[in-house]
Amino acid sequence: MIVENAMNLLNEELVSWVNEMKTMCEPDHVHWCDGSETENQRMIDALIASKTLRKLNEAKRPNSYLALSDPSDVARVEDRTFICSESPNDAGPTNNWVNPIEMKAKLSGLFQGCMKGRTMYVIPFCMGPISSPMSQIGIEITDSPYVVINMRVMTRMGKKVLEVLGPQGTFVKCLHSVGAPLAAGQKDVSWPCNKDEKYIVHFPEENTVWSFGSGYGGNALLGKKCFSLRLASSMGRKEGWLAEHMLILGVQSPEGEKKYVAAAFPSACGKTNFAMMIPPKEMGDWKITTVGDDIAWIKPDRNGVLRAINPEAGFFGVAPGTSLRTNPNAVQTIAKNTIFTNVALTEDGDVWWEGLTDQPPAHLTDWQGQPWTPGNGKLAAHPNARFTSPASQCPSIDGNWESAEGVEISAMIFGGRRADTIPLITQTRDWNHGVYFASTIGSETTAAATGKVGVVRRDPMAMLPFCGYHMGDYFNHWLKMENRTSQLPPIFIVNWFKKDQDGKFMWPGYSQNMRVLKWIFQRTNKVASAKETVLGMQPRYEDMDWNGLDFSAEKFAELVKVNSTEWETELLSHKDFFQKLGHFPMAFLGIQETSLTKLKREHLSLI
Ligand code: OXD
Ligand code: MN
Repeated sequence: MIVENAMNLLNEELVSWVNEMKTMCEPDHVHWCDGSETENQRMIDALIASKTLRKLNEAKRPNSYLALSDPSDVARVEDRTFICSESPNDAGPTNNWVNPIEMKAKLSGLFQGCMKGRTMYVIPFCMGPISSPMSQIGIEITDSPYVVINMRVMTRMGKKVLEVLGPQGTFVKCLHSVGAPLAAGQKDVSWPCNKDEKYIVHFPEENTVWSFGSGYGGNALLGKKCFSLRLASSMGRKEGWLAEHMLILGVQSPEGEKKYVAAAFPSACGKTNFAMMIPPKEMGDWKITTVGDDIAWIKPDRNGVLRAINPEAGFFGVAPGTSLRTNPNAVQTIAKNTIFTNVALTEDGDVWWEGLTDQPPAHLTDWQGQPWTPGNGKLAAHPNARFTSPASQCPSIDGNWESAEGVEISAMIFGGRRADTIPLITQTRDWNHGVYFASTIGSETTAAATGKVGVVRRDPMAMLPFCGYHMGDYFNHWLKMENRTSQLPPIFIVNWFKKDQDGKFMWPGYSQNMRVLKWIFQRTNKVASAKETVLGMQPRYEDMDWNGLDFSAEKFAELVKVNSTEWETELLSHKDFFQKLGHFPMAFLGIQETSLTKLKREHLSLI
């Protein structure tokens, strides 16, 4: 066994854990990542040599690379994701659960010798700014150099983290293997993974993740969904804070007043676009700045005010649909120093994906490495193709995005993807009412996922795939924040995706969402007026800024309408959902009953 560049380590727990994992996984080499430029370049060169990466045209896309994954390894694998808490009750009915002892035994078998012929990389990483008391350290052990170069963008990584960890520091243990050992002399493939066995397993009581078989995204970059959401949500429950699937943005008014807003949307609802929005110039000098696009750690400070950090250092964004029209700031962010995965390659060595330009190029190499021409019936980029890009490159990055104390959250927004029922915007009445509605957000399923169109998949707080414990306990934890804080931000529910009778989106979305955000901003200052409806407070047509947008009062009325028949069905379906959870906050029952009574009363007064 050759142990390369072992750092002068004093943290005994770390050394003994790495040794234990080394004994189990049997790598040929062990490499402690220092995070340096030289190390990164060496890895990239090796990845080019093994055909995992291809360098893009330096003139068009400086220092950027393309990786094409195995076609079977393209997304998070929710059905292979487990929360192995000691008690099944702590995982709850929305998570897969297996007894942790049984799972460890099963996985130890798979991990035994799984790194033969490969190097084991030890990646010290920090989630959150290194100097922040809200940040936490993790160590990822992986046999994928592709994971190492991505973790270097997505987290603060390397030697500096070991220095902060020190001899006594504690860390989250993240073990990852692509699950593809190499026999002596066996040639490697460009995207090693295990086609038969995949396991993404969390042991919340041990602050440990074991991930086997996939090299892709959230399955392999363990700082992201596994640590910063699943394990962190469980830590937050014990310690009195929140780890949320939320973007964080700054909004600055033309008068120079600045506030921060956190917003949760299920995956693929445009979080990155919202976080980097450029307001329509006709609205005046409003500015949006970006703190994060996917995850927020939110804690009460010593004055009981909720403050948030983005634990990540980069964006792992969905490429398809990203364009100068939908997200010019993202397009600029990814102009250089970016790793692309599963997008198409142009003839001049640049990248392309559906939606990047209206006209596709005449010839491409698609995400499976095959020649592609427009109209050949295939997608050029995989729908879950990604870019990995440093947050610091984003033109709208907020001046406080690395602030150690985090930013104060003045409002929270929750949204789903719903063709009907949910109005464009509603301010909920108070914290409990807001938590109730946040816990019922969801999206209509697409035919591709379920075979049925229009079935609502509830995705409470957009955390269904990411909550590391029982959803019912999670709702209670949210409600309890009231006792831990001196003030709580108002909660707003939005829906950008309402459709008219012809199936067309009624709201233009993208930068026009600034109109809704302006109303929210002004509500937090109690400046904007609103009307009271059965659901909460909603803007009237005249409460919104329409400068530069021709949008009729009738259409707006449709968008914010609360249809009693739809809402009765909706509230009853909430009831079904909660009952399936087994336990949920008693306060929710009261909110449901009051809403139903109000709806019925309103319905009667209308007929
Ligand atoms: C993501 C997701 O990758 O939510 O951010 O799926
Ligand atoms: Mn996400």
